[in-house]
Order: sequence, then structure tokens, then C-alpha cells
Amino acid sequence: MTQQAVGMSGQNGLTVYTRSGGKELEQPYEKTVVMPAADNKDPATHAWTDARFATDIMAEHALFFALLMPPEVAGAERAEALRFSKIFTDLYQQIDAAAPPERSELKRFANNVVEQIKPFIEYKAKLGDAQRSGKLRSLVWPLFFDHARHEAERWTRRLETLAQGESELDRVEVTKFWTNIMDEHARFVAHLLDPDEYELIETAMKTSRVFADLHNHGRVVGAATALVHEPGTVVDSLVQNPETSAVLSAAETILDFKTKAARGIEAARIKSIIDPRLADHVRREALKFVDELKRAV
Ligand SMILES: [Fe+2]
Ligand SMILES: [Fe+2]
Repeated sequence: MTQQAVGMSGQNGLTVYTRSGGKELEQPYEKTVVMPAADNKDPATHAWTDARFATDIMAEHALFFALLMPPEVAGAERAEALRFSKIFTDLYQQIDAAAPPERSELKRFANNVVEQIKPFIEYKAKLGDAQRSGKLRSLVWPLFFDHARHEAERWTRRLETLAQGESELDRVEVTKFWTNIMDEHARFVAHLLDPDEYELIETAMKTSRVFADLHNHGRVVGAATALVHEPGTVVDSLVQNPETSAVLSAAETILDFKTKAARGIEAARIKSIIDPRLADHVRREALKFVDELKRAV
């Protein structure tokens, strides 16, 4: 178990995760991840923590798009991104300030968040196509639009399931979704690092292939394939921890990698064009992956 995954038991059946495992946040970029306690299966609590997590993530997606849209070439798209950022920041603050909904309010609560995410899914799909076709010349890769859309779609599916009173996470779904996300994060990192960061770029690309293998071939075959392809990357941890599942081990390893990367970027030890807020964003998504894997059945 990594430091980050230990978390702190809070009140109301919640766990507050920090980078260090302690109470202090690494200012100014670290954000906490608040999740139900390990044994808490209450769908209303899960809906509240997942909505809190997802709305903050959506606000950041919109902000990252805006950062990558120069007004000269994508003024209208940028203004729209900033509008979405405000909508999700407001929604996040509203959720954060309130307690989990009552069971009788669960459907209404989840549905409200889902309905607000839907137009943002459309925006991501439309602009992804525009960037792919050359109609839009922003600095947002088509894969970044697609990646952010897949996350938004996944949060709507999750909230719709929770609205039915079902909080259980399916191991296959969790693994399939997040291994793909981790593969893409690793490639984003590789392509946003300063081209002089040879070693880190290589580590990021190898990490991407490990997750692609886990995604495409499943746990056992994937780990074996990864071992053959890429000795010396996250595979080290699979060898050192044979008792834990290959996927959990890989997830904990990429969480450690991202935590170190976030600190390195913040301290400017790592040269890149990665905004520190993006570094913490992908770290929190890796943490969510680890948390979900441990609950999944
Ligand atoms: Fe994201
Ligand atoms: Fe992501």
C-alpha cells in the first residue's frame, strides 16, 4: 500500500486522501480526494463523493482547454470553455458545501449533475472532430478531447447507476476504463515534457505500453506481455509484489510516479509545459483508480 493510498479516516464515513498521507496539503496545487470509507457502501455517500470529484475534474478539463486555446485562433471555443469552467466550479462548490443527499433526494441529486455534464460531452465530441479535421487549430490534441469526453461519459454512467441505489463497482469495468486512461495520461506526459527530458519521456512511454497491455490482454497475460516488452518499468513492482494483483500494483506504481512528477514540476526540477494543476489532476485520477480497484468486486 502506498503512502497516498493510506488516507485519513474522517468523519461521516469518509476518507480524505492526501499526497503525504498526513493532514497537510502541499500548497498551492495539491487538492484532496474525498471518498467513502472502505466499508461504506451507501449509494448517496458515493454519489456525493463521485459528483464532488467529477465536477472538479470537469471544471479543470474546461480550464485546460482554455489554456490551450489562443484567442487569435480559437476565441469562441475558449470563451465557451471558460463558461463551462464556471458552471462546474459553481456546481462543485455547491456540492462541497453540502452534505451527501438524503436517500429520497439521491435520484434528483445525481440527475442534476448528469444533465449538466451532457452539454460538455457534446462540446468535447464536436471540438475533437473539429481539431481532427483541421477546422479547429487549437493546441488541444484530438486525443485530449476524446480522453476528457470518455471521462465525462463514465461519470454520467456511474452517477446513473448510483441513482438506482447501486454503489458496487465492477472490477472488469474499473480495470478496462482506468487502464486506458492511465495509458493515455502516460502519453500526454511524454508529449508535454521538455524534449531534453530523455529519461522521463522514455519511462512515460514504457508506462503507457504496460497499461495498454493490461487494457488489451487482461491481468495475467497483460502482465506477462508487459514483462517481456518492458522490463524495468512499472513491471518491477509486479515482480516485487506478486501477491497483489498486477493491475493494482501497476495502478499504485503510476500513482507514485505521478506524485513524484507533480512535485518535480512544482519545484521546476522537471522541465515541461505541464501546468501544475494538470499534474495534480492526473495524480488524483490515478488515486481514484487505486481506490476503486480496492472496492471493486
Ligand atoms: Fe481528467
Ligand atoms: Fe484523465
